[in-house]
Amino acid sequence: MPEAAPRFAGQTAIVTGGGAGIGFAVARAFAREGANVAIAGRRKATLVHSAALIEEMGGEVLVVPADVAIAADCARIVASAVERFGAADILVNNAAHFALVPLLDADAEVAARFLSVNVAGPLLCARAFAAEAIASGRRGRIVNVGSIAGARPAPGCGLYSASKAALEMLTRSMALEWGPAGIRVNAVAPGHVATEGVLADFQAGRLDEAKLLASIPARRIADVDDIADAVLFLCSDAARHVLGQSLTVDGGEGF
Ligand SMILES: NC(=O)c1ccc[n+]([C@@H]2O[C@H](COP(=O)([O-])OP(=O)(O)OC[C@H]3O[C@@H](n4cnc5c(N)ncnc54)[C@H](OP(=O)(O)O)[C@@H]3O)[C@@H](O)[C@H]2O)c1
Repeated sequence: MPEAAPRFAGQTAIVTGGGAGIGFAVARAFAREGANVAIAGRRKATLVHSAALIEEMGGEVLVVPADVAIAADCARIVASAVERFGAADILVNNAAHFALVPLLDADAEVAARFLSVNVAGPLLCARAFAAEAIASGRRGRIVNVGSIAGARPAPGCGLYSASKAALEMLTRSMALEWGPAGIRVNAVAPGHVATEGVLADFQAGRLDEAKLLASIPARRIADVDDIADAVLFLCSDAARHVLGQSLTVDGGEGF
């Protein structure tokens, strides 16, 4: 029997924050399944290193040094991918700012940082992507990376949770406004994922691993590929009639 063509052959996927953590896993998974990928982030050296790892698997990778808190950078991320690959089919808004900030310490500058990176950035990248897709008559898919924190408060997470709750509502609003133009917008909401940040929190005692595991019915912490698989599903034809949804990937942690 002939082998099935890779799911994303010939397509182009843009992944913000694609140089590390979940974003790198998402970019690598798209490349493995035949897509060209554009990865954006602030640190060029990290992007170049990650691009080389993806290219070893045969994928074509464009590196776009950019800060999604800067409006012009958001437009440039999309324009660069279109210029290099001829079109953009998929956008994964993954880059985010995270820090534990008790609300009494959350001044205007701190609040602006969370909102510009986690809300305005994804909006401006999505807007540039949608405008380009509509102008060129192409169907598109957007996945916004939220968090189970967007649906429940936790100490020190007030601004992060508020930003992810806003992103979830933006996801539904984008789906409503752009769905008729053939752009499917959805979100994933991970629980804790074994990324560098979470592993450092275990090491430093900021997070109790045993207690966390006991609170997860699946009794394991997600790995980055658990999230990448969900993102690719939402971008695939298998999810062709799924719009404006947030897919929780947390082993039951958020119950
Ligand atoms: N890890 C978890 O447990 C967890 C749980 C729930 C949800 N999430 C969500 O999953 C996503 C990825 O998280 P992660 O843990 O994989 O993060 P990470 O390891 O810290 O990676 C974040 C990536 O985003 C980039 N980035 C950060 N700020 C940026 C900016 N202003 N402009 C452009 N790129 C930026 C970083 O690169 P530079 O520093 O070079 O810019 C980095 O490559 C985020 O949306 C996060 O909120 C994570």
